[in-house]
Amino acid sequence: MNYSEKVMDHFANPRNVGEIENADGIGEVGNPKCGDIMKMYLKIENGIISDVKFKTFGCGAAIATSSMATELVKGKSIEDALKVTNKAVMEALDGLPPVKVHCSVLAEQAIKAALADYYTKRGIDPTPIVGEITEDCHDSGCTGSCSI
Ligand code: FES
Repeated sequence: MNYSEKVMDHFANPRNVGEIENADGIGEVGNPKCGDIMKMYLKIENGIISDVKFKTFGCGAAIATSSMATELVKGKSIEDALKVTNKAVMEALDGLPPVKVHCSVLAEQAIKAALADYYTKRGIDPTPIVGEITEDCHDSGCTGSCSI
């Protein structure tokens, strides 16, 4: 598998790993085919993501994409964080092999799931703001191969 240097760096030294106690939003998504799971914790203050941590049990690309996704949303407003697509994550990592594109979808969905949880906790229906969370990556070319 041909990975960019940035992917290898974020895989070997993932940023923002861990949990946030009393997180304002927690999102968990999983890929049913490969079994990989991503959990995202957000601290939100005045509409700004002041802290973010993640735990990923999955392939190298899933770890690298979740690490990069946390870097991209940290310090951003909720509005801007919602604009962080899997494509933005991939571009920031200088690309991913085609069979690993779905791993970046998981990262995007984990952020959205955490934001959805944030709204739900406040009694607000998240769907019109965050959109549907697709925990299933089958539409995004998932091959279910978790080998690095
Ligand atoms: Fe399962 Fe990458 S998320 S192969």
